[in-house]
Amino acid sequence: MTTQTSQRLDRARQLIEEELPHLISIRHDLHAHPELQYQETRTSGVVQRELESAGVEFVPGLAGGTGVLGHIPGETGSAMGLRADMDALPILEETGLGYASSIDGRMHACGHDGHTTILIGAARVLSRLSAESPLPQPVTMVFQPAEEGGAGGKRMCEEGALDGSRIGPAVGSMFGLHGHTESTVGSVGSRVGPLLAAADEVIIDIRGVGGHAAMPHSCTDPVPCAASIIQALQGIVSRNTNPLDSSVISITQLTAGDAFNVIPDTVRISGTVRSLQESTREMLERRIGEVATGIASAHGCTAVVDFIRGYPVTRNEAGAVATFERAAGEVLGDDWVRPIEHPVMGGEDFSFYGERVPACFFFLGLLPPGEQAMPSVHNARFDFNDEAIKTGVEVFCSLALGLGTSE
Ligand code: NI
Repeated sequence: MTTQTSQRLDRARQLIEEELPHLISIRHDLHAHPELQYQETRTSGVVQRELESAGVEFVPGLAGGTGVLGHIPGETGSAMGLRADMDALPILEETGLGYASSIDGRMHACGHDGHTTILIGAARVLSRLSAESPLPQPVTMVFQPAEEGGAGGKRMCEEGALDGSRIGPAVGSMFGLHGHTESTVGSVGSRVGPLLAAADEVIIDIRGVGGHAAMPHSCTDPVPCAASIIQALQGIVSRNTNPLDSSVISITQLTAGDAFNVIPDTVRISGTVRSLQESTREMLERRIGEVATGIASAHGCTAVVDFIRGYPVTRNEAGAVATFERAAGEVLGDDWVRPIEHPVMGGEDFSFYGERVPACFFFLGLLPPGEQAMPSVHNARFDFNDEAIKTGVEVFCSLALGLGTSE
């Protein structure tokens, strides 16, 4: 690191300390006012207010109305993209916190209040730094709606978040983070290649011929057929997936019948399908169809399979991961950058950015030191750890200051 860069990093740390109390109060305010996907109007308003007061240029109204793109010019080149998601979940909060959700049945149970706060913090600090001397490269802050199943990231991309048509030059690389309850606060980590899985949905409609439950021989019972299909689907994971690759098929919903003495005409099976490679995803889609229709036919039933593609694999590009690891190491110390050994089978719509530009998604530790565990994300007792805000802002700022570029 040059003396000048090191002075800049010190100045960034100082500004982050100054902003922290304000950021923590923003986080608590967002936590108390959670909004579901595509309804993040108030949250988007907070983002715009904070960008405006820090003198950051922005474009509101994307992706259904709540998406915001902030931009800070820099010396040369394409923009570095930093992303946060803003939506909450339909969960009844049970934390008992003073700043707990003020709306029953809605909760920031995935920490997107923390993610949004961190990106606001980075924007505010970077804006102050750029007023002192220009940033090495332009920075675009992507505040997206609807990560929780609504593919808000995809809409942001389709509406020009990355191609330079909205604000600033095109985005050349993209970074995003997610709170991680299994790693210690103060640490961050990522990995090259798949970090999170493709998350698809499958619905299988089985049709037989219903009738009196005491006379099965005069019916074509779709219920044992459904049972056979459910059993056989697990064979796709154990027999058709390479043992060194990974996939998951979880059947989670089963709908059949209205009475104990009536064989129903139909059974609906649905669930989630996860994979880490596009080729495996295609295999799963094909094999689920073959297994379901083949077994249905053996039972004299028919099966119609609907495979609904959700988020693609969140795949990190090697160069972007190296940039992240260097930048995080400079600001946190190398001991606090802890590579994630295995991918996680959850899904993320950050994947849509990674399909378009070199990208790195990383985990931000939330676990208090000395604790063995904390409530996980999507749990009614989860809360984002305020201590992690500083770490997140530091890493985003270090990236934007070019500390990840190789010498
Ligand atoms: Ni999340």
